[in-house]
Amino acid sequence: MDGTDDQTVHQDDRVRVRQGEIAIGRPLSWDVYDDSGQLLLSKGYIILNERQQRRLLDEGLRSTARFSLPSGHTVADGTAEVSGNPFITIDQLTMRLEGILGLVHQRSTAVAPERRIRKLGRAIQALCDYDADASLGAAHLKHDTSYPFRHSIHTALLCELVARRLNWPPLNRLSVICAALSCNVAMTELQAELVEQAEPLNDSQWDAIQLHPQRGYEMLHATGVSDQLWLQVVIQHHECINGRGYPAGVRGDEMVPEARLLGLADRYHAMVTGRSYRNGMLVKNALRRIFLDVGQEVGSSLAQMFIKELGIYPPGSVVRLVNGETAVVIRRKGELAGPMLACIANSKGEHYAQPLHRDSSEQEQYAIGSVHPSPGPLPFSLSQLWGY
Ligand SMILES: [Fe+2]
Repeated sequence: MDGTDDQTVHQDDRVRVRQGEIAIGRPLSWDVYDDSGQLLLSKGYIILNERQQRRLLDEGLRSTARFSLPSGHTVADGTAEVSGNPFITIDQLTMRLEGILGLVHQRSTAVAPERRIRKLGRAIQALCDYDADASLGAAHLKHDTSYPFRHSIHTALLCELVARRLNWPPLNRLSVICAALSCNVAMTELQAELVEQAEPLNDSQWDAIQLHPQRGYEMLHATGVSDQLWLQVVIQHHECINGRGYPAGVRGDEMVPEARLLGLADRYHAMVTGRSYRNGMLVKNALRRIFLDVGQEVGSSLAQMFIKELGIYPPGSVVRLVNGETAVVIRRKGELAGPMLACIANSKGEHYAQPLHRDSSEQEQYAIGSVHPSPGPLPFSLSQLWGY
């Protein structure tokens, strides 16, 4: 069938993929099926070559739905445009969160912070629907916005992805996301300070850290947050099931599972994020710490589920291929298949003019050989790497 056929609506709302809707090096905006309903390629898959492009134009049917945040879930109450580029959307959400938490900090009830944070939470859920891999990539590689708010957005994204794998109900997931976005509201200034500070904590910093779950709870409650699970997760997000956490030192089942998940995501993101005085931990080392140490603090089955969701090489990992190229992992392809890659440098370390998208399962030479021990600054933006 000719790819230039008129767009025909099929009985299941699928339409023929048309010339101009797909391009080599760019991700698909929808799942694409053949005429018999078999899935050809999933949403987010990056078209690697002309052969794939031609096949999709010849045989591909796509759904008519494209990405948009659900009705009523616009970012920033309609004051910021939602972009089809998830990295731009993440920046918008980060800026918006900074504004809302500033109001909570002032204990302002005038603008209904609970409603606004819930809107951001739904936008996080929509982002995970749209492009979970790009969201994970951002959690590992995005460093260009204010740390406290960026950390909260990325922790919320991690919580949502793992909570989905755990089949938690949407409303519980939303409470966890809202807690992730707001749990450090009492110490955002200190967080920004600490990310630059190589010296050990002083006494007043130590006190502020110990008190921030309780203070955050009080601020949120005072500004009208009434969701009990959200508030409970905020106050428990630094507790441990072995009783060694704070502020109350609760044990075992006294700590709700939602708070365990937030504690896990919070620690993982803090580990992989660089500070001004040190690089972020390599993903494989952070995952090992999650398995060995953090698992004791939040429960090993939750830690295992976290690792299962991310995989050995989560999107955002920088790796060396068998052929010596350096690449960024951009998409997972299930537990048994190697991920999709954006190659950034050849075997001599020379940067390519543009990222080369490769399927690590396609040829032996493209298989991942090792994690890159010191990747340094990337020569491309995340939008370029992910093909947006
Ligand atoms: Fe915290």
